[in-house]
Amino acid sequence: MSQLEKVDQKNIWHPFSPLAGNKPIAVKKAKGVYIHTMDGRKIIDAISSWWVNIHGHSHPRINKAIGRQAAKMEQVIFAGFTHKPAVDLSKTLMKLLPDSITKIFFSDNGSTSVEVAIKLAIQYWHNQGKPRRKIIALEGAYHGDTFGSMSVAERNIFSAPFNDFLFEVSFIPFPKGDGNEAIAKMKELVGDETAAFIFEPLVQGAAGMQMYAPEVLDQLMAIAKSKEVICIADEVMTGFGRTGKMFACDYLENDPDVFCLSKGITGGYLPMGVTAVNDRIVKAFDVADRAKAFFHGHSYTANPLSCAAANASMKLLLTKKCQLDIERIAMSHEAYMKRFVANDHVLEIRSRGTILAIELKADDAGYTSAIKERIYDYFMERNMLLRPLGNVIYIIPPYVITNQELSKLYHAIDDFLAQL
Ligand SMILES: Cc1ncc(COP(=O)(O)O)c(C=O)c1O
Repeated sequence: MSQLEKVDQKNIWHPFSPLAGNKPIAVKKAKGVYIHTMDGRKIIDAISSWWVNIHGHSHPRINKAIGRQAAKMEQVIFAGFTHKPAVDLSKTLMKLLPDSITKIFFSDNGSTSVEVAIKLAIQYWHNQGKPRRKIIALEGAYHGDTFGSMSVAERNIFSAPFNDFLFEVSFIPFPKGDGNEAIAKMKELVGDETAAFIFEPLVQGAAGMQMYAPEVLDQLMAIAKSKEVICIADEVMTGFGRTGKMFACDYLENDPDVFCLSKGITGGYLPMGVTAVNDRIVKAFDVADRAKAFFHGHSYTANPLSCAAANASMKLLLTKKCQLDIERIAMSHEAYMKRFVANDHVLEIRSRGTILAIELKADDAGYTSAIKERIYDYFMERNMLLRPLGNVIYIIPPYVITNQELSKLYHAIDDFLAQL
């Protein structure tokens, strides 16, 4: 590893780490739930490599699908052309998403799926000659790192250098508990000038796996819908089984107008963003006037290799085995929560589907909490990748993780808390 570190790393700018003293671990291969390092370590990937890898690394079925597709066609312009892998994926997504959703728009990642959603919502009103300017979002929100997605998210250390350049958004409190404060604020803010309401349904990931009730989100959406506000569900993290159901919105009575999808969509293999919309949105763009077209398109839109990976990933996800695995992980987390003995350091333990989070008490709570590095190092020394969100330890595993592996993680968490 020392060789690789010295020779190869000096020209690479890694995300999220100070440039000085950054010592990334060199990875030789990754298989199933394990990351194998150049220096011979076998690290359990308890966070699915930034929440993307739902079937484990290097899955033979996805490997094969990408290989087969590469032999036929690696990439083709998606303006004026189409291909079977994209069509197949659109058909599968139509079966999984609510009936009201009728079209998908491809982009490259989670942030761009959100950019597309925001632009569609704004242009929806523009195309009808009744522009609306206000966007409502939740406090604590994270929707990506591009300017639009940063604008609709909480202003924090991530966004600080750019805050003056972000467009204005109205925030409602995070809808914890009965959500009454958020509901009251929503009623106060929403009006005929409100274009869109964007939210991470049921779980705010980057905020520290903060969870809230479907009933509260349903009430917030009902208020938004009473003013015809476009409801955008950012399911980039929650989609594809993470919360126990295919989508977090499957827990709701109300359907959003727009879904943002990414991360798990390709099984964590290749970048892809999808913005799925209902007929209401489509109709506003389905007009002869060229000026009303949606002028947005990325070079790799609907890349055939990404689509092939997504099709293979969807097939795996829909198998009985995978659905049972999701259920098994959810039940395992619940059982752990029941037997969990909180000590003075624990503020809360919570879970939703395959996501488990333990929030520690901290005076400096949040992403930059000082305890973050201590947590990270403790688990890495034990070959467990549990990259905390500040003072929040969480597990969001590939669905192929075994009960024994989960048990090892729970024990390590217990041991960590006991020695605090
Ligand atoms: C809810 C949500 N939206 C959007 C994004 C941005 O996705 P990406 O990193 O693929 O741009 C993330 C990333 O963590 C996310 O959690």
